[in-house]
Amino acid sequence: MSRLVVISNRVAPVDEGQTAAGGLAVAVLAALKESGGIWFGWNGEIVQTPPTKPDTQKIGSLTYATMPMTRRDYIEYYIGFANSTLWPLFHYRLDLMHYDRRNFTGYMRVNGRFARALSPMLRKSDLIWVHDYHLIPLADELRRLGCEQRMGFFLHTPLPALEILLALPRHEDLMRALCAYDLVGFHTVNDLSAFFDYIILEAGGEVLPDGVVRAFGRTFRAGVFPVGLDAAEVAELASQHDNSPEQKRLATTLQERYLILGVDRLDYSKGLVARFRAFAKLLAADPRMHKKVTLMQIAPPSRGDVRGYAEIRRELETTAGHINGQYADFDWVPIRYLNKSFDRSELTCFYRMSRVGLVTPLRDGMNLVAKEFVASQGEQDPGVLVLSRFAGAAHEMTEALIVNPHDEDSVADALSRAILMPLGERQERWRALMQKLTQHNVHVWRAEYLEALQRPVPVD
Ligand code: UDP
Ligand code: G6P
Repeated sequence: MSRLVVISNRVAPVDEGQTAAGGLAVAVLAALKESGGIWFGWNGEIVQTPPTKPDTQKIGSLTYATMPMTRRDYIEYYIGFANSTLWPLFHYRLDLMHYDRRNFTGYMRVNGRFARALSPMLRKSDLIWVHDYHLIPLADELRRLGCEQRMGFFLHTPLPALEILLALPRHEDLMRALCAYDLVGFHTVNDLSAFFDYIILEAGGEVLPDGVVRAFGRTFRAGVFPVGLDAAEVAELASQHDNSPEQKRLATTLQERYLILGVDRLDYSKGLVARFRAFAKLLAADPRMHKKVTLMQIAPPSRGDVRGYAEIRRELETTAGHINGQYADFDWVPIRYLNKSFDRSELTCFYRMSRVGLVTPLRDGMNLVAKEFVASQGEQDPGVLVLSRFAGAAHEMTEALIVNPHDEDSVADALSRAILMPLGERQERWRALMQKLTQHNVHVWRAEYLEALQRPVPVD
């Protein structure tokens, strides 16, 4: 069997139990635990002179190979092109996109450096699986160094519609580099269609049956592989919290009020301000809800050095303060806004205690929180998922209450419906969702992706 080599900018913390930073790290860790292999990426540190070789640490069958970067790399590659150009662009926020030629050069330079550090570690029979927008040019860089292994890429964010993608000044360089992989994977058919549109309409390439693509002088495959959870593991973690000290403490503070829960990195793509406003509309429309519901929003700060993130934080604080000021009483605060992260086990406890999981991103690649919320519910009294149609998860999770997050009144209506939903309907929706999560779990995601990566591509 081939060894699996996974590369991503963000690598999950090596110590078990620490908070993982975002859905990519959670999914990749679950996928790698199964087979072992190498996980190569940034160690989160900034140094003056980066080493040429990664630092390695073996834990069971998994080897972490990580490297620091220089401040210049951090600014140009991570803060700059990855998170100030590609992230907003891929989330349809052209208004927040900032392009700078120097950042693009820095992005290419770091990809080249990663390739040079990784290539001596590779064996001929390795399967290489690269994750996310930070590392699109990595396969091309590795191929220049003579690496001939099969290489796959998976995008954890949306790929925007063609007209948006064309706003990127260096789109052709980036998309040409993407075509150096043997398999390009996306979460949804929308992302795949956007890719095919680019290939056909902009690059003059061809899309053949079975996802085979011919473009920029290469033949490769592209497909849809929606990421899943280890649903059984999440369910087990959650059930361990019945009567746990955390569960009891939270129950005491809730005083039998319904809990509405949001869990998101503090990111403008997550629609948090509109979410708070929708909650306020629920309170304004239905005075019976006063003192009956509490919205708890967990929002760990993210990418604080990127422009736009500080602003969203300020706006959210103001909005929460305003709503609490208007509605709070001496014995009830409508919004609990927590600017910190929790480990996954604690989160499963909170999910299980909630009547509503409120997941309303304006755009999201998949959104694992939506899936974790469902997997954490108990069959006796399951909560209801209110889910944005613009999360990749909405393509599969059709038994959730699907909402348009731009329509705050309709989100307020869905909240009301979720809170008042009879037990029978809650159970029916939950069972249907849980069956999907169990069938399309993270192990299936990994197996299907790696099978497609190894499938030969037809040659003329
Ligand atoms: N998460 C966590 N602690 C927190 C907040 C989030 O461990 O305080 C995890 C959460 O359980 C989920 C991931 O971070 O697995 C977030 O993934 P998602 O796909 O929802 O969003 P992303 O952050 O990748 O945009
Ligand atoms: C999203 C991205 C990941 C990223 C994560 C956390 O899930 O798709 O690539 O790792 O957010 O963001 P950060 O910038 O802290 O790595």
